[in-house]
Amino acid sequence: MQDIITHIEAPSRHRAWFVDRPMRGVPEPDDFRLTEEETPEPAEGQILVRTIYISIAPGVRPLLPYASDRPDVAGNSSTGRKDASGDHVPNPMQIRVGERMRSGIVPAMSAYSGGTVGQVVESRAQGFAPGDYVFGGLLWQEYEVLDTRAVLKLDPADLPIEADLTLVGRSSFTGWVGYRRYCDAKPGETIVVSAAAGAVGMLVVQMAKADGLRVVGIASGPDKCRFVIESLGADACIDRTAEDIGEALDRLLPEGVDIYFDNVAGRTQLPVFSRLKPFGRLIVCGMAAEYNGSESSTLPTGMILAKRLSIRGFVVLDHEDDFETFRADVARLWKDGKLVYEHQIYRGIESAPQALADCLTGANGGGKILVRVSPDTSKDCMPF
Ligand SMILES: NC(=O)c1ccc[n+]([C@@H]2O[C@H](COP(=O)([O-])OP(=O)(O)OC[C@H]3O[C@@H](n4cnc5c(N)ncnc54)[C@H](OP(=O)(O)O)[C@@H]3O)[C@@H](O)[C@H]2O)c1
Repeated sequence: MQDIITHIEAPSRHRAWFVDRPMRGVPEPDDFRLTEEETPEPAEGQILVRTIYISIAPGVRPLLPYASDRPDVAGNSSTGRKDASGDHVPNPMQIRVGERMRSGIVPAMSAYSGGTVGQVVESRAQGFAPGDYVFGGLLWQEYEVLDTRAVLKLDPADLPIEADLTLVGRSSFTGWVGYRRYCDAKPGETIVVSAAAGAVGMLVVQMAKADGLRVVGIASGPDKCRFVIESLGADACIDRTAEDIGEALDRLLPEGVDIYFDNVAGRTQLPVFSRLKPFGRLIVCGMAAEYNGSESSTLPTGMILAKRLSIRGFVVLDHEDDFETFRADVARLWKDGKLVYEHQIYRGIESAPQALADCLTGANGGGKILVRVSPDTSKDCMPF
């Protein structure tokens, strides 16, 4: 029988990351400030959680302050609305100088928008007890007080506790939604997936392969490309740091491309886009190459018209109703050994800014990126 934990001691002080200044391009560690402060206390209806894992995702960069002009990516430059004076209404999701660093969007946006997994150390909320593992925290800090409305209790006997940030997390969900709901893929078609070794791309590559498509990934470096082919099952992978993408596509897919699942936009986009077949589809998932402000993309409108191409953007937040189906589907495939979902762990809360920078440039080793802030006590003998 499992021991019932009634109390876990939390230290009186803990550390939290704050945004310290506007950032030039790729964020640097000095753009953030790690501050020691009093550990927060939960009020009635709240829980105090020891952070174990933080999810690192490129989509947080457009929410951070830019030292120069904010690139116009995914509508993040503003809410798209203007007030009576004609000024843009600030995007409430943005993280400003002096604010606590977040790993995701704000909880009110979605019941599944958390960015951390941790363990309850003190509970003043019904249904939660010290020792429970939970998903739903947001902040880059060692301890966090949470309202339990958007918190999910985890069962380590069912899935590893980090799975809600990896295998059945939001990035994986994005790949599932983007592929299942927007690609309209048919066996025998060809699909190109950029950032194929990443958190979203990993799922798209494997689902497309399972459906009988010819899959070409794009990733940086021989190790990631090997992973995309050998572990994820892609037919080929273009190393964007070593090959000309257009020439490689002419060699690998001389008949052209039916679907481009675009995770990065930027300079990678046009060489793939211009090889779309008539009636080809561009699925715009993300613009990771543009978040640092150093690249941009220009689409050839004349070609879109002449080839009757479809361009479809999507936002995973529109698909909350799909979440339970996705979770069950992906968890089953993984338990049956039919799905690979790798993650790379950066150790210690100090490493979070570097993990974000590596995620944005692709300097990581592939897979979903996590920061382990404190020991994962859900696993036997897990070294920190
Ligand atoms: N539409 C939605 O609702 C939604 C939701 C979540 C995420 N997203 C988007 O989905 C995309 C993938 O997210 P993820 O979490 O899976 O990220 P990720 O792939 O783990 O990380 C981003 C990757 O982009 C690639 N990249 C970076 N700079 C690049 C450049 N200049 N040119 C080409 N490739 C570059 C790198 O991969 P390589 O070095 O291997 O090429 C990097 O690892 C992101 O754009 C994200 O914002 C969209």
